[in-house]
Amino acid sequence: MDVYEAIQSRRSVRAYQGKPIPEDMLRRVLEAARLAPSARNRQEWRFIVVQDAGRRKALAKAARNQEFVAQAPVCLAFCATENDYVMTCGQQAGPIDTSIALAYVTLAAAAEGLGTCWLGAFEEGAVKQLLGVPAAARVVAMSPLGYPAESQAARPRKLFDEVVRFERW
Ligand SMILES: Cc1cc2nc3c(=O)[nH]c(=O)nc-3n(C[C@H](O)[C@H](O)[C@H](O)COP(=O)(O)O)c2cc1C
Repeated sequence: MDVYEAIQSRRSVRAYQGKPIPEDMLRRVLEAARLAPSARNRQEWRFIVVQDAGRRKALAKAARNQEFVAQAPVCLAFCATENDYVMTCGQQAGPIDTSIALAYVTLAAAAEGLGTCWLGAFEEGAVKQLLGVPAAARVVAMSPLGYPAESQAARPRKLFDEVVRFERW
């Protein structure tokens, strides 16, 4: 599957089979995060792979009881380890870098036939406590990872001409 096919086929998956993910496949998906670009190549991130069933259940609870989070055999937490660097453009690098890593993972997972679902609805304090994340680090996003239990239709998107301008705003 090429990158365009992965972009086309990726969905936010909210129902998972319990079936385990082969170790080599999991590592390939995580490599996509490791190889992602970051501002100044700082790579100030840590990716936590949660497989323990009790911990996944607790993460689902911290994620506003989104039960599908515990259904998948893996839950990933994407953390920014250093959060002081503001780029010249005024944007904070930490959450941007970490989000790029998760975006890569969603596409790598799609290429492997696995589902993901970006999670922004979670209590960061509870997740930090569950995963032993130090105070200075931030949990930017989480995602379950597993085989989808059902296929999903694509969600609508704005039209090309609504969102793309050539040359000027
Ligand atoms: C930053 C961000 C936070 C999100 N948080 C959640 C979430 O907490 N729970 C959830 O079910 N989906 C969440 N989503 C998924 C979006 O709802 C989804 O990407 C959007 O509806 C488009 O659907 P698609 O991903 O299937 O194309 C989030 C997506 C992003 C990018």
